[in-house]
Amino acid sequence: MKLSKRISSVPPSATIAITMRAKELQNSGMDVVSFGAGEPDFDTPQFIKDAAVAALQDGDTKYGPKSAAALREAIAAKLQTENNLTYTPNDVVVTVGAKHAIELLCQVLLDPGDKVLVPAPYWVSYPEMIKLAGGEAVIIPASGENGFKITPEQIRQNAAGAKAIILNSPSNPTGVTYTPEELTALGQAVLETDLIVISDEIYEKLIYGDTKFTSFAALDPRLPERTITVNGLSKSFAMTGWRLGWLAGPSDVIGGVKRLMSHQTTNPVSFAQAGALAAYTDPRGAEIVEQMRQEFEKRGIHIAQRLNAIEGVQCIQPTGAFYVFPDISAHFGRTLHGVEITGSMDLAKVALESAKIAVVPGAPFGEDKCIRLSFATSMDQIDKGVDRLAELLG
Ligand SMILES: Cc1ncc(COP(=O)(O)O)c(C=O)c1O
Repeated sequence: MKLSKRISSVPPSATIAITMRAKELQNSGMDVVSFGAGEPDFDTPQFIKDAAVAALQDGDTKYGPKSAAALREAIAAKLQTENNLTYTPNDVVVTVGAKHAIELLCQVLLDPGDKVLVPAPYWVSYPEMIKLAGGEAVIIPASGENGFKITPEQIRQNAAGAKAIILNSPSNPTGVTYTPEELTALGQAVLETDLIVISDEIYEKLIYGDTKFTSFAALDPRLPERTITVNGLSKSFAMTGWRLGWLAGPSDVIGGVKRLMSHQTTNPVSFAQAGALAAYTDPRGAEIVEQMRQEFEKRGIHIAQRLNAIEGVQCIQPTGAFYVFPDISAHFGRTLHGVEITGSMDLAKVALESAKIAVVPGAPFGEDKCIRLSFATSMDQIDKGVDRLAELLG
């Protein structure tokens, strides 16, 4: 059948493709170490599951979930107390994951040909979502030498004719977090150039060392009117399968998002929202999130140290999220297991098929010199997988 031009130009998500292939090999009995997953290896906390089960038993199974208003209120309260941002519950929309929130925003904000600045390395879905909305992604490169961070000057240089920018700190795939000072400087450039900002803060709770998280919109009183904050429960509460995210922003954008959603998904799953309400309001939530954060922090330190000990591998210590993004380009030009390594795709392929380690190539994230490893896996698996990588590259 002839598919639309719109979908024909969109490749499948590279991260999902590699994770699926690794699972396929594991299911066939192969001992594959997977660094592919973009999700916590912890289970959703029991009290959150209990709240969702209770809502289900209580008949919360219709359009218009019973907990919807309370959840938006809890999110507005969280934004006030944790992020120093003032929104009413009506300024918040609960979506089917943060991915859906960003997709909605692209559809609501962009006309054909509208340009959106996307710092690279970027999350694989940003350019595709922009493209699906008819927009054009303008990639702003931030190399490893610059700590994978863009500068305010780069925004000023690329902003002519652009409508918006997507910021993501802590970052997938780099594990890098901008400092509040760096974000303030980016905010100044945004104000000067009149850009709308989509601030993807999905990894807010996963920050390490003395890194401080600040919501972008909170850095200047003029930013909230041009910023939409995106967040969700997937990464912080280990709830990837629940598909719950949200966005908060100016009322005209929120109105557009609500109209679009009314013709699209209507609302996220009713009883899942009861679980989300428990996550944000039960004091056990913060405690469990902190335990997971501490565990991720230990793993992040360990994996970066081990990777840096491999010759020809350079890895920035992650300050957020659960990814490292080492530069492996010193190995390009070599032949490994009969395959000439010309870039990150070749390396990821050989790593999976010959060394039984699933890593994600950097190319779909906009940086071919690197590969992405998720450390949302046990210390034992990290050691086993890094041993295999060291042997492959040795
Ligand atoms: C940067 C970034 N934004 C958004 C998402 C989407 O998260 P959700 O599960 O809430 O759709 C992800 C998931 O991998 C991500 O890495």
